[in-house]
Amino acid sequence: MKAISIEGSGKDARLVLGETAEPEPSEHDVVIEIAATAVNRADLLQRQGLYPPPPGASPVLGLECAGTVSACGSEVRGLVPGDRVMALLAGGGYAERTAVHAGSVMPIPENLDFEQAAAVPEVFLTCHLNLFQLADLPTGGWALVHGGGSGIGTAAIQLIRAAGARVIVTAGSDAKCARCLELGADEAINYRQGEFAERVTERSGGGVDVVLDSIGAPYLAQHLKCLAIGGRLVLIGLMGGARTEVNLGLVVAKRLQVIGSTLRARPAGEKAEIVRGFVERFGDALASGDIRPVVDRVLPLEKAQEAHDLLQSSEHFGKVVLRV
Ligand SMILES: NC(=O)c1ccc[n+]([C@@H]2O[C@H](COP(=O)([O-])OP(=O)(O)OC[C@H]3O[C@@H](n4cnc5c(N)ncnc54)[C@H](OP(=O)(O)O)[C@@H]3O)[C@@H](O)[C@H]2O)c1
Repeated sequence: MKAISIEGSGKDARLVLGETAEPEPSEHDVVIEIAATAVNRADLLQRQGLYPPPPGASPVLGLECAGTVSACGSEVRGLVPGDRVMALLAGGGYAERTAVHAGSVMPIPENLDFEQAAAVPEVFLTCHLNLFQLADLPTGGWALVHGGGSGIGTAAIQLIRAAGARVIVTAGSDAKCARCLELGADEAINYRQGEFAERVTERSGGGVDVVLDSIGAPYLAQHLKCLAIGGRLVLIGLMGGARTEVNLGLVVAKRLQVIGSTLRARPAGEKAEIVRGFVERFGDALASGDIRPVVDRVLPLEKAQEAHDLLQSSEHFGKVVLRV
């Protein structure tokens, strides 16, 4: 079958359309005929050899997809060939077909087409896991989310608002800040104009309950300042770096929790719980359009490299989708 493969290595690694072996499903898997997949920041690292797939996962890029079920393993219940589905993948999305554990699969609500649905699983499930299941953001609470215009940011803003909580975002331009406010953010701070900690503390009335952090080292000191007593810092990415010095006194005095989290390498059973929890809490909001994937643009699969270049430039707002 056709799939995107990687030519070259390191910074010179480029994506090209090639051929790969058909997926080999287990009895717990469904096979999906992929109509669309979406690009995630992690894919850029994997292309350069910096984020290898977990053991047993497809070496093909792609952490999510939408399409039609074409076959079901003997242990699969509740799904049949012909179902329109979207799925969280550990890899293998940039291809014509994939096999995935049935627990990572969700039905596509009628209001979403395949290209919109492909933009749902990775960012909405990541935000649900980290904001609510791990960091327990309460109704009426405050969260700080970096990169409000990212795939993660656009999902987080909507989930936080739908949960009755409040959200402050950072973004790298006034134009992106304006779009985040339109999407529902309570406050948007252009991080290129200086430090954010003071404004975050003021706006939230004393500090935020949760920080969803994809930046890491350069923001740690500010996070310790702008978290409320008992606040939770959830680290999901390290776009700014991994090493820094920290005043642990603030962690103790404010009774803070620091949580590190990844989604991709979790066992199938844990992913199934995350999927179930998301559908139970937000499935209706997704089906009614109250929350929706924000798709910046759709490119054909063979333009995967162009999609990576776009993400690298950060000129996008929301998700970049690949039509298969
Ligand atoms: N741990 C997990 O399970 C998990 C799962 C999914 C994603 N993630 C992580 O979540 C992050 C976002 O992923 P994505 O796919 O949504 O990425 P994306 O769409 O490529 O967005 C990255 C965003 O970060 C913003 N940014 C860059 N430097 C920044 C800074 N210093 N301060 C604030 N914002 C900054 C960029 O926009 P501007 O600079 O233009 O504002 C851009 O919007 C990545 O680090 C990814 O690895 C983790």
